[in-house]
Amino acid sequence: MLDELQSLRTHALEQLERVEDENALEQWRIAFLGRKGALAALMEKLGTLPKEERPAAGKLANEVKAALETAFEARVNALKQRALIASLTSAPLDVTLPGRPVKRGRLHPANANLREIYRIWRDMGFQIFRSREVESDETNFQLLNIPPHHPARDAWSTFYIAGTDQRVLLRTHTSPGQIRAMRELGANGTQPLRVILPGMCYRFEQVSARYEIQFNQVEGLAIGRNITFADLKGTLIEFARRAFGERPVRFYADHFPFTEPSAQMDVQCIICDGKGCAMCKYTGFLEILGAGMVHPVVLKNGGYDPDKWSGFAFGLGPERIAILRYGIEDIRYFWGNDLRFLEQF
Ligand code: DAH
Repeated sequence: MLDELQSLRTHALEQLERVEDENALEQWRIAFLGRKGALAALMEKLGTLPKEERPAAGKLANEVKAALETAFEARVNALKQRALIASLTSAPLDVTLPGRPVKRGRLHPANANLREIYRIWRDMGFQIFRSREVESDETNFQLLNIPPHHPARDAWSTFYIAGTDQRVLLRTHTSPGQIRAMRELGANGTQPLRVILPGMCYRFEQVSARYEIQFNQVEGLAIGRNITFADLKGTLIEFARRAFGERPVRFYADHFPFTEPSAQMDVQCIICDGKGCAMCKYTGFLEILGAGMVHPVVLKNGGYDPDKWSGFAFGLGPERIAILRYGIEDIRYFWGNDLRFLEQF
């Protein structure tokens, strides 16, 4: 038995020396190391040996097996190495060929624009508060002083979630985040607040060059002890200066159920510098945001005593600002995923 094993080893290693390609290598492996190969056949016979011969034979069989496996691995590597050298020398690399261009990713223009807006508000001391996109009717409307069936609701065409009896909806604006920020950060109406609330909003609109069913808003909210309309104006004028440079802005009276008084801010048209063009509809000004002093009812719903606390809020449309900045003529480009558009930014 021991002799048989020894000679199997010698024979197998000799054969391996002669193996020159993958095919022959595989045949060698099957013949000597395979489940029905020569070594396996010998190992099967171990059991028939007299007891006292078994340990020595078993030990040698294992040694032979290990030796064959090691030799096999070495041969595999040697053949691979040889093939590599052959391919390198027969078709040499042309290191002067230009490389394949790498397509680099970049920020989506809407996100780049959002980050710029965050930066400006951050520099002015506003922290980001993330609020939810799936909202209740209560927070999106009622707590913002818009009761059920109130005609003010017509301003927000709403996607309701099926099967919730119109109690759950996709937020139509970021304003419900005001309630959540006041309740979560206000510590029962004891802490001042200075936050922006950015994020996606949804409206059931006929999609066109000017309207989309989804868009970002950035809401702002400041609550404190003696906040006045002058603070609102000063803060928004400073935002406009940082975002658009030195350009005139103007305020208009407006109406929102959650602010009193309410205003709209315009900035001088960036396309025509106020001379009048199609973008500003020949008015020389562009509407940038809605704003106002937080309505006492809303303060109360957020946990603040309106006799002691006051605040201002605003809501701006970042895509609208990007459209004005870059002269984008169709809002559908933002979510159309057309690389010809995205690669321009
Ligand atoms: N939520 C309003 C909208 O979607 C925008 C807005 C107006 C937000 C006035 C405000 C505000 O915070 O004070 O049309």
